[in-house]
Amino acid sequence: MSDTTQLDEKISVQRPLREVFAYIADFARIEEWDPAVARGERLTPGELGVGTKFRITMRAGFSLLYTVTDWEVDRRLAMTVDSKFFSAFEEIGFAATGDGTQVRYVATFTFPGLFAQFAKRFPSFMDGIGKSAMAGMKRALEDQFDVPAGSVGTAVADKLILPGVLRFTRLGYRGARKHWNPTSAYMGDRHVVITGATSGLGLATAEVLASRGAELTLVARDSTKAISVADELKRRFGNPRIHVEIADLCVLAEVDALVHRLLASSRPIHALVNNAGALVNARELTSEGLERSFALLLLSPMRLTEGLQPRLRSSATAEQPSRVINVLSGGMYSQKICVDDLQSAAGTYSGPVAYARAKRGLMILTEEWARSWSDDHIVVHAMHPGWADTPGVVASLPTFHHVTRGLLRSPAEGADTIVWLTCATEAAKTSGLFWLDRLPHAAHMLATTRETMAEREALLASLRGFANA
Ligand SMILES: NC(=O)c1ccc[n+]([C@@H]2O[C@H](COP(=O)([O-])OP(=O)(O)OC[C@H]3O[C@@H](n4cnc5c(N)ncnc54)[C@H](OP(=O)(O)O)[C@@H]3O)[C@@H](O)[C@H]2O)c1
Repeated sequence: MSDTTQLDEKISVQRPLREVFAYIADFARIEEWDPAVARGERLTPGELGVGTKFRITMRAGFSLLYTVTDWEVDRRLAMTVDSKFFSAFEEIGFAATGDGTQVRYVATFTFPGLFAQFAKRFPSFMDGIGKSAMAGMKRALEDQFDVPAGSVGTAVADKLILPGVLRFTRLGYRGARKHWNPTSAYMGDRHVVITGATSGLGLATAEVLASRGAELTLVARDSTKAISVADELKRRFGNPRIHVEIADLCVLAEVDALVHRLLASSRPIHALVNNAGALVNARELTSEGLERSFALLLLSPMRLTEGLQPRLRSSATAEQPSRVINVLSGGMYSQKICVDDLQSAAGTYSGPVAYARAKRGLMILTEEWARSWSDDHIVVHAMHPGWADTPGVVASLPTFHHVTRGLLRSPAEGADTIVWLTCATEAAKTSGLFWLDRLPHAAHMLATTRETMAEREALLASLRGFANA
């Protein structure tokens, strides 16, 4: 014995048709809008279309296999659904209205045996699930979320060692994500430049942005690796607009040449992610005679960002500011900027100290750029990814990696806030803050790491001196 139940729901939103279609048709993102769903995954590589499969894991613990059977861009999407409890046929129709888009969702569920009796006896149960999914879809597409604010609790936890440190682990990520809002902003008309996109957090960022249809430029030092990453992104996500630029970002001449090439191209730049980085344990000099951590983590992002500032400015509008995202580290909390010894020449060299001071310097630049570029519609963010299990951590901190690996975040979890700061509508309404797990945190935990105004000015003068050398 089997029985069928039908749902037929409609919503209207003030968003252009192509944005609504792009968000809903990437059905793995249902986890952002349907409260009954725990996780959505795209199973088939390539462009979305007929034959694309999604695995949707429900909070109730079972999973559904969706297969796209009809695909008409900006018009209609149909999918079959298989699970151990029921099968279904779902159709989603899209139509432009005077001021936005209407979405109609029709689902026919077929329940076998006992489940058929249940569905018959409790029709309001299925109806309730459908209505709450559509309400979630509407809320996601309306995309009117407040900028998240730090709380007294966050500030206190930051100052306490155990909660502060636990937050950096995957436990912190999993706790935080319960409170997040959907990010339905359309990325198909955005171009994002990402440094260090061949590994770890940069690669994880590129994967999500490529899947959302953004045009990407991957900046990398190793052309073989970069081309293979770009080819793989194109193959997996059916996104052909993935470009590669080669530059060793420790070398200022290469940073300058990169800026020159990016400005010479006609492409706008809507976001720049300064992610490339490494923790070097022994003091090394670059081919230009600069200490490596200082060159890679502070001077290079400064030169790149200030060099690209005119393009970021010309690509921005008041409604759609351009964004700079600086990937920093919680290590910064332990250090004050040392303006007299930016290249860590005095005393015994410590890689973690040089690294943390450079990240502290980039935090100061984040605040300075946010202030000076607010009239140019450029927002500037700094973020801490938490502790993520990346090749960089394995190479630089093998003991730390060995001891903590059960608690480390995945690269995608570490990269989540980079992606959110790059895409979320609400993240374009704030500037100059330090973010972890989509929440702003204090830039200092200790009064002793605060620089004076004179030190700040000396830092900027010194960095600009190098930059103009
Ligand atoms: N993972 C964490 O827990 C963690 C925590 C705090 C902060 N961070 C920060 O997150 C960022 C990414 O780190 P990750 O953990 O993802 O490390 P990763 O896996 O080693 O990735 C670093 C990326 O930077 C690139 N890179 C390094 N030196 C470069 C240079 N001279 N020129 C151009 N590209 C260069 C690497 O290129 P190759 O592939 O050629 O090596 C790679 O693509 C870094 O800024 C790091 O400081 C990470």
